[in-house]
Amino acid sequence: MEARIFTLYLLTIACLLQVSLQGQHQRKLYKDLMRNYNPLERPVFNDSHSLTVHFSFSLMQIMDVDEKNQVLTTNMWLQLYWYDYYLQWNTTDYPGVTNVRFPDNQIWRPDILLYNSADERFDATFHTNVLVNYTGYCQYLPPGIFKSTCYIDVRWFPFDVQRCDLKFGSWTYGGWSLDLQMKEVDMTGYIANGEWDLVEVPGRRNERFYDCCKEPYPDVTFTVVMRRRTLYYGLNLLIPCVLISTLALLVFLLPADSGEKISLGITVLLSLTVFMLLVAEIMPATSDSVPLIAQYFATTMVIVGLSVIATVLVLQYHHHDPDGAKMPKWTRVVLLNWCAWFLRMKRPGEERVRLACHNKHRRNSLSSVELSMSQGTLQPTNGNMLYIGFRGMEGMHYTTTPDSGVICSRLVGPGEDEVLLPGAGVSNLGSSAGGTGVGMGIGSHAETDLTKILEEVRYIAERFRGQDENESLCNEWKFAASVIDRLCLMAFSVFTILCTIGILMSAPNFVEAISKDFFT
Ligand SMILES: *[C@@H]1O[C@H](CO)[C@@H](O)[C@H](O)[C@H]1NC(C)=O
Ligand SMILES: *[C@@H]1O[C@H](CO)[C@@H](O)[C@H](O)[C@H]1NC(C)=O
Ligand SMILES: *[C@@H]1O[C@H](CO)[C@@H](O)[C@H](O)[C@H]1NC(C)=O
Repeated sequence: MEARIFTLYLLTIACLLQVSLQGQHQRKLYKDLMRNYNPLERPVFNDSHSLTVHFSFSLMQIMDVDEKNQVLTTNMWLQLYWYDYYLQWNTTDYPGVTNVRFPDNQIWRPDILLYNSADERFDATFHTNVLVNYTGYCQYLPPGIFKSTCYIDVRWFPFDVQRCDLKFGSWTYGGWSLDLQMKEVDMTGYIANGEWDLVEVPGRRNERFYDCCKEPYPDVTFTVVMRRRTLYYGLNLLIPCVLISTLALLVFLLPADSGEKISLGITVLLSLTVFMLLVAEIMPATSDSVPLIAQYFATTMVIVGLSVIATVLVLQYHHHDPDGAKMPKWTRVVLLNWCAWFLRMKRPGEERVRLACHNKHRRNSLSSVELSMSQGTLQPTNGNMLYIGFRGMEGMHYTTTPDSGVICSRLVGPGEDEVLLPGAGVSNLGSSAGGTGVGMGIGSHAETDLTKILEEVRYIAERFRGQDENESLCNEWKFAASVIDRLCLMAFSVFTILCTIGILMSAPNFVEAISKDFFT
């Protein structure tokens, strides 16, 4: 136990001794290295030789892509490596000292800057120490949050891929004095971004020649290629827009009598405008290219606007004034015949209409009811029967037809109380052949009275005929309205589907984006 503690003690002493020794060597080394050192001097053995600087960076994070201001914000650690001729030493002279650190202003360092910086201070790096090992190899790794200008093309938003260049180069040295060489980007520490998928960061070395001199000016340009993740915008912009434009189609299914057709259309239009404002807030105010999503919204708005116009037309047809103009012939042919046939629409109550025509034909004959007074018999000239009782008409001859009821009910129709003929009495009278019902004395008055009644009956018939005609006119207009409604429903459905597919699918990486973001 004792021995072990003693050994530990000795070891600690030895360590301390070592450290203090190294401390001495370090102090001596710093003094020796700095004795004739000038940080302004390019550290090369022969001044006509160029100094090679290897450049790279490790990308830590994409912090922000500002579409509106066209600025990319990234968190990066730059990596610069070079040999400093004057910072070499023999390790046997300074035992234990293999590397030393210098603050960046104490020794020479390359003035590599981000050319397309958008930072307020331009150079956004944090100036760290330079690590130098005994061979003179310098490692300078300044971290920084870089803001760089980047042309963000929102043409295919939200299915876009952005390529942002990061151009690094020496600000003052030309290629003959400082040879900038590229190394691969280190992505081991990369933290994924919620909005952007990092695709790749390829780099290339360029040499530019300026008019002033023959010297090349090298730079290293890295391109950050990133793909926008679509899920967020898909859920918050695209799906609502598709739903809303589907709702716009319901305008054509809503019955015209509900009175809500226009308000539904306008509501849809307004909600689309709200979504479009949201998009406009994100997008840069540029007219270079119209973003895909804005195109889609604009198209949808046009569709909804047209549907509102079509609805107004439908309502105008539906509530058409029956006393107004008759339907133009071509409208009737196009809408009621061709379109209705094409849409396989049947006129509501087509059967009834035929029946009505049938009845009309019969009613026409009502006016030609002849009363034969001399023989004391009433002879209906056809199936419709109007029987007015006589006294002592035993020899009367008549036939009862099932149609007689039609007239009877007609005669007691609402609003026709000037002439009140009890409906049931007319047909029953005949069978009882008695003096009940409407009784009239046969005599000199009889003929004039009957004529009067006949006139009244004619008048009633005229009124009904007019009403029926009006009603059928109204129904025609209404049917035309419903044909237009159906036609618009079909046309707008097809148009909406085509636009949705056509516009959204025109994005170059639509399929990739959908498959990666929605189904993984
Ligand atoms: C420096 O290099 C150039 C060409 O590389 C050579 O001509 C010159 O002699 C060298 N100078 C010294 C001092 O070595
Ligand atoms: C380092 O110094 C020792 C003696 O001082 C010498 O023998 C050795 O060659 C030197 N090494 C180098 C690389 O110059
Ligand atoms: C010194 O730098 C060189 C680069 O040439 C490297 O190979 C070597 O490992 C470094 N030595 C130490 C001790 O870091």
